[in-house]
Amino acid sequence: MLEIKDLKVRYGNIEALHGISFTVDKGEIVTLIGANGAGKTTTLMSIARLPRPEAPTVIAGDIIYDGESLLNVSPDVVVAEKRIALVPEGRHIFGNLSVQENLQIATYALDKDANVKDAYEKVYSLFPRLYERRKQRSESLSGGEQQMLAVGRALMTGSNFIMLDEPSMGLAPVLVYDMFKALRQMNEENMTILLIEQNAKIALEFAHRGYVIDTGEIVASGTGKELMENPDVKKAYLGG
Ligand SMILES: Nc1ncnc2c1ncn2[C@@H]1O[C@H](COP(=O)(O)OP(=O)(O)OP(=O)(O)O)[C@@H](O)[C@H]1O
Ligand SMILES: [Mg+2]
Repeated sequence: MLEIKDLKVRYGNIEALHGISFTVDKGEIVTLIGANGAGKTTTLMSIARLPRPEAPTVIAGDIIYDGESLLNVSPDVVVAEKRIALVPEGRHIFGNLSVQENLQIATYALDKDANVKDAYEKVYSLFPRLYERRKQRSESLSGGEQQMLAVGRALMTGSNFIMLDEPSMGLAPVLVYDMFKALRQMNEENMTILLIEQNAKIALEFAHRGYVIDTGEIVASGTGKELMENPDVKKAYLGG
């Protein structure tokens, strides 16, 4: 579904990714794990084709999605036509709007004949907490609830491929677990997932496959289980 080929990108004169390659097959949960500054967010930003200055410049390699290169595709086309949903780092929800209004905004990308009611039902069944709070101003949600809203909003775009940048960030352990269970449920309902995580332990537990990224290079790959048992990965990312 997604193939990253020898991707090199830079910010100004600084090369942030030195030629990384990885794939995500339809139906998979694939995780990219790595420490602060490894290049995880940079990878997602490159795929989402966000405009400069925030986004890096691709200097070599390719990003192939459903058989076509995304390199010359604009960000709105990535969302509305390619149907790639992004849950960015930090939550970027509209604090002065209610939960329901935040979800509603995301439906702009849906086809005219898409069933919006089903989309709401799907989000509210995955995150019942959001249903309880649907009329509440989003800025007054807890951090964990805002994170759920950010994922819910991505679901409202009708996408079947979602990229998440550290969905566990700032969540209490029990909520991290709930978040990953919701992701697994989404995956079982046909969502392909690319998951960026610093929390290697839980990411590898839930993902089918993973890649380890270190200062702009992929240094290890395998199934979640293989990586969890890899001594180098254990030492560097799983606390021994
Ligand atoms: N807009 C930018 N301009 C210049 N350099 C940047 C920019 N964004 C990121 N970088 C640099 O690129 C490298 C990779 O950053 P990136 O944000 O991709 O890391 P990350 O793996 O997501 O880290 P974290 O886990 O801390 O979120 C870092 O050295 C960072 O300083
Ligand atoms: Mg990041």
